[in-house]
Amino acid sequence: MGIEFKMKKIILFFLALTSLAFASDSAIWGKDMILNIAQYDKEGSLHLGALFTLLQSTYFKPLFFGVLFGIPVIFFIHYMIIGPMIFSHDRKKIYVFSVFNRMVHTIAGIAFIILIPTGLVMMFGTTFGGGEFVRFCKEIHAISTLLFIVSIVPMFFMWLKDMLPTSDDIKWMMILGGYLNSRKDPVPAGKFNAGQKMWYWIATLGGFLMILTGAIMYFQDFKIDFVASLITQIDLLRGSAILHNVLGLAVLALFLTHVYMSVFAIKGAIHSIITGYKEEEEVEILHSSFYKELKEKKEL
Ligand code: HEM
Repeated sequence: MGIEFKMKKIILFFLALTSLAFASDSAIWGKDMILNIAQYDKEGSLHLGALFTLLQSTYFKPLFFGVLFGIPVIFFIHYMIIGPMIFSHDRKKIYVFSVFNRMVHTIAGIAFIILIPTGLVMMFGTTFGGGEFVRFCKEIHAISTLLFIVSIVPMFFMWLKDMLPTSDDIKWMMILGGYLNSRKDPVPAGKFNAGQKMWYWIATLGGFLMILTGAIMYFQDFKIDFVASLITQIDLLRGSAILHNVLGLAVLALFLTHVYMSVFAIKGAIHSIITGYKEEEEVEILHSSFYKELKEKKEL
């Protein structure tokens, strides 16, 4: 092996390591270092260096900060002005989530409660002083991904049929799900509304891509010939870091929305994922097409 070739390999290895380190712990590398690295884009590469540098050094942190604090502020204002939807608890209860549904959902919930804070610690590594604590969070983040994997695969299949798009979804979006007023007008939606469907697709397909890109960053120093023939390792790592963070932003935003809807915006909604039962009036108003379907099938 020629000395030049060896040197190239060493440089490439350090570039890959640098990208990963910055993606997973921005406390380790400074902005100037990253800017220098951008100049080393190999010929024939996707030239993701400049974009990667710009996003990592300038945009991702403020965006995550904005989502983390901005979304709860918007919901707080919504709660103060419009208030929660309150449905009668005196009518029938409708069984909507099986034990299996609830178990899978609980595992996903536990995984997220660990994944989100540990991911944020890595994003704001410098603020947390870098070092051991951030590295510990990185390992916990990786371990809880295993929990996420075992929940997301069954979740994808168990709800797939009910999550396919329907014409109700467009109508639902036109009225923003009826959440901008506190009237109890029937909302066009099947078992799941367009907002819930959006969350499902981001959590499952988006989650799958997050697992894949996360694994690429975690196992940084690997070689799969087929992949290597398509993309350089450094581009693979940079592309993974960008996609992981962009999807992370979407997942964080929708997760906060999901929790707000389940815990605050619809009073008592959280019970359905614990007991399996929803209040009849809630189904009649918020899932009017599903309610009609149950009536027609005489399942009520
Ligand atoms: C940890 C906090 C969480 C809470 C309090 C929560 C609560 C709920 C509730 C109450 C429902 C039933 C909603 C309804 O149909 O009225 C639900 C459904 C659902 N949850 Fe969660 N959940 C949490 C975490 C998660 C996570 C981490 C995921 C995905 C990875 C997830 C994915 C879903 C999906 C796809 C549905 C069905 C569609 C929907 O209702 O949005 N949930 N959740």
